[in-house]
Amino acid sequence: MTDATKKYTTIHYQGYLELEKILNAQHPRSAELEERPAHDEMLFIIVHQVYELWFKQLIHELESVVEMFEKEWVDERNIGTAVARLERVVEIQKLLIQQIRIMETMTPLDFLDFRNYLFPASGFQSFQFRKVEVLLGLKPGQRLTYNEAPYTAVFTDEQRRELEVLEKGNTLFEVVEAWLERTPFLEFRGFNFLEYYRSAVQKMLERERAAIEATEYLGPEKKRMRLEMLGSTDTYFQSVLDPKAHRQMREEGKLRLSYKASIAALLINLYRDEPILQMPFNLLMRLMDIDEMLTTWRYRHAQMVLRMLGRKVGTGGSSGYDYLHATAVKHHIFKDLHNISTLLIPRSELPELPEGLREELGFHFSQKR
Ligand code: HEM
Repeated sequence: MTDATKKYTTIHYQGYLELEKILNAQHPRSAELEERPAHDEMLFIIVHQVYELWFKQLIHELESVVEMFEKEWVDERNIGTAVARLERVVEIQKLLIQQIRIMETMTPLDFLDFRNYLFPASGFQSFQFRKVEVLLGLKPGQRLTYNEAPYTAVFTDEQRRELEVLEKGNTLFEVVEAWLERTPFLEFRGFNFLEYYRSAVQKMLERERAAIEATEYLGPEKKRMRLEMLGSTDTYFQSVLDPKAHRQMREEGKLRLSYKASIAALLINLYRDEPILQMPFNLLMRLMDIDEMLTTWRYRHAQMVLRMLGRKVGTGGSSGYDYLHATAVKHHIFKDLHNISTLLIPRSELPELPEGLREELGFHFSQKR
């Protein structure tokens, strides 16, 4: 008999899930303080509790993915598992967005029946939400401030320390950046990706310029404007064609991903049809999904707050809707991956990979002998 079987005891559904604790953890304040309890306060409590449970699961998934990637050498087999866990994160986020509709079945007037009793409790005090943001890679310098205090001011000393350690350590953003920097295909046996890319971009821009100049459908003024706009796309290409321009944009806070990691992300996006790059491409797509879902949640939550409170200030002391809406615009984490779309060129313009490199990027069992 193994140790595991020796210790094995049977268990009841109620006990395994500790339902005694969970189902006795709803205590509407209006029921304690008022003669007539507010019916909707139960919904308010349960929806928040369910969110916190899902935040716990998100943290569990994100921590495991960071752990896989923080090693110097990432086992290729782990990438599939990481992608699967990030897909799970995205599905949970979709559910979190949908749950807002359940909250919105409560009317603003019904909310006012118990809102007084919530002061000064607020979503600002959700430690797990902050942990999700920090684990993904949101840094204090990127955050909007409120109440002229750091966002950690509402937590205990221990929680504050935990967030600070996480912020300074490896977050998903940083481990993925380091992994991208190690991409081995940027210079391969005489194939200099950037050189080929530069000439492909130049050809594409010249053709677009010629098309604007030649069209009969635009007058001289419109043509001038279009050519000017094309010029600004041209400037954006400098972020990858010129490391100095990239450094400057990084210093100005327009970009965050390192130069080397940005080029690797571009290469993965452009050559994602090559078998070996399909999994890394999937990983980058899931990170974009996570960022997009979190942003969507922020917009939806802000919209719900507008519906419930109008322009009233929040119980946590922020301006309410205006603050929350501004976080949706500002608190992006993987914006650099969205920026890659500006740099893409059509498949037909892509430089051909040398045969040796194509073979390296293929699955060996599917190649012709
Ligand atoms: C009637 C429903 C709700 C209202 C009126 C509401 C209102 C607000 C307001 C006004 C804020 C800004 C902070 C403040 O000044 O208090 C806030 C922040 C927040 N709320 Fe809600 N909320 C509601 C439901 C929820 C739910 C269901 C969750 C799920 C956990 C949630 C999570 C958060 C979080 C995490 C923040 C901090 C956001 C940030 O700083 O980026 N809220 N909420």
